[in-house]
Amino acid sequence: MGRVTSFDPELSPRRAARAEAERRATEAIEVVAVAEKPAMSRRLQRESAVTAAGRGTRWASQPRETRRRVAVLALGLTVIAASGVAIGAARAGSDPAALAAPEVVAVIEGPPAVPAEGLPVPVLAEAPAPASRCDDPAFTSVLSSGDDAATIAAIGGAEAFRSAVASGIAPCISLSDPNRQWVVVNKKRPFDPSDYRPGDIVMPDGVRALKESGLRRQAADALTALVRGAADAGAGEIGYLSAFRSYTNQQSTYAERVAVVGVEAADRESARAGFSEHQSGLAVDIVPCDRSCGTLDDVAASSQGAWVRDHAWEYGYITRYVEGRTDVSGYEPEAWHLRYIGTDLAKVYHDGGYTTLEEFFGLPGAPTY
Ligand code: DAL
Ligand code: ZN
Repeated sequence: MGRVTSFDPELSPRRAARAEAERRATEAIEVVAVAEKPAMSRRLQRESAVTAAGRGTRWASQPRETRRRVAVLALGLTVIAASGVAIGAARAGSDPAALAAPEVVAVIEGPPAVPAEGLPVPVLAEAPAPASRCDDPAFTSVLSSGDDAATIAAIGGAEAFRSAVASGIAPCISLSDPNRQWVVVNKKRPFDPSDYRPGDIVMPDGVRALKESGLRRQAADALTALVRGAADAGAGEIGYLSAFRSYTNQQSTYAERVAVVGVEAADRESARAGFSEHQSGLAVDIVPCDRSCGTLDDVAASSQGAWVRDHAWEYGYITRYVEGRTDVSGYEPEAWHLRYIGTDLAKVYHDGGYTTLEEFFGLPGAPTY
């Protein structure tokens, strides 16, 4: 059937009615197609908005009988189209990929079809809101077990986890829980309680530590593997200066910086007590070591620093404070500050080209307290 693209005022009322009915049938088919291809809906709506006004004027100028007949036919087609939308939505409800789709839109355009007496008025049901995994006892049970990797697997993998959190459909997953590897700490997100202290701090095996400061067990094991990986790749030895810092330790660390550079500059490079990732036991400040170890400032230009930039994610670590993102992270670049988020999330972070944890999880930037 050839598509009738406009309502020709020269046609007889009967032919005009048929032509308009054909046009509406084509649109009804498109409605179903749009419901099945959410990504197309915005373009279709834009195009519709451009032509709808003119079509409305032409429609109003048609004889009353013509409009009635077309309306009856269009009504029938609308019911068919609505059924298609409902079936599509029901199918989508059992498909995890479709659950993550941001929108399912049915567009019925042009003048409203006037229902003939005695016929039911079709009601287009709104697409159901995506179901939250937080309503699923099987998922919440894994979540409350405290097993981060199992939780990520249970929701369908790290990207599904990230997008569920970022879109707000998984409110049971807290980015404020300091015991989880996905905790986000910044100038707007202090620890609660402020003197939180992880229970499983250990010293990483086989890593040169310049201070007696450990990491949470998984982060420590990952650092051991990372340091070995760098050495095996010929990038040189990686040691570290500082890892877990308690609330009181961070108080003195921050105060020392303030004494040297003043409050404003200190706030761009050192966190106030209760606001440092180091308190999570998931962050570590590395240094390049040859015979002796260099300083934090030596990391960026070292072979160890270059290797870490490319490979830390493979071990579950990200470089938390990078060039040009101070407005979001709140801190100037720190090539030495690595943050453990687990291998699953770190892969998605790397593959997605993210540069701040805030953007990764859809959080606002935290440039200031
Ligand atoms: N240097 C980082 C921002 C900290 O103190 O946690
Ligand atoms: Zn640090």
